[in-house]
Amino acid sequence: MNVGWLEVVLITLLISVVVSLVLARGRHWLEPGFWKVAAVITSSVMTITLVLLTVDTSRKISMGSKRVPSPSVINREIGYVYSPDRRAMVPTLGKEVGLFGKVWSEEEAEKLITKGKLVIQSRNCMDCHTLLGNGAYYAPDLTKAWLDPKWEKQLIPMTGANTKEEAMKAFLMNPDKYPTWVRRMPNLRLSEDEAVAVVAYLKWMSAIDTNGFPANFPEVKVSQ
Ligand code: HEC
Repeated sequence: MNVGWLEVVLITLLISVVVSLVLARGRHWLEPGFWKVAAVITSSVMTITLVLLTVDTSRKISMGSKRVPSPSVINREIGYVYSPDRRAMVPTLGKEVGLFGKVWSEEEAEKLITKGKLVIQSRNCMDCHTLLGNGAYYAPDLTKAWLDPKWEKQLIPMTGANTKEEAMKAFLMNPDKYPTWVRRMPNLRLSEDEAVAVVAYLKWMSAIDTNGFPANFPEVKVSQ
């Protein structure tokens, strides 16, 4: 059975009512004691439900789970297609293509992504951007930035780079030099290593299944 929010609410309510009625049996419903038992049982059942939901959520949002890929996904081609069953765009994985001309081991990829996250935190990118919907709305959401067709269409020609990752790196190191929008991104003086790490982080993030958030990204097909 697929347990969704409705099932969780109904099961929690049912258990609370049944256990309360059993433990408060013999008492009239107008007695304060009846409601005292009901309050204690309901609070306890709700606490257990919240703990179970928290454990379930932590499992689902950890790296290597169904929706959040493990770091080495940065080596794969990442597609984005519409799933009629899910009624949302979902990431798909294609063949191994590497990143910056190299295939990263699981440990190397994890280190790189962690560095990318720290660079993003150190520069407060969320003052302007959102990541997974968190942050500010001055500049585009970066959750699926890797899949933005603008890297191939605009930035590769503008920067003269050979690959999408090189174009993204060039933009991140000199965003003032390669403007593509009405608002400009300031030069945050990212070193080459820092820009590479941010590209890896953004590529990894684009492979997270976010139920199609944010909207309006075109389909990207990959060779399986
Ligand atoms: C002062 C606001 C501001 C800050 C801080 C900022 N950006 Fe930006 N960023 C922008 C704007 C504006 C754009 C659009 C610029 C353009 O397209 O020429 C942009 C564009 C981007 C893009 C391209 C997104 C796309 O799909 O079009 C990426 C990637 C990006 N920023 C990453 C970062 C990272 C990483 C940081 C932190 C290291 C950062 N930005 C910090 C304002 C900001």
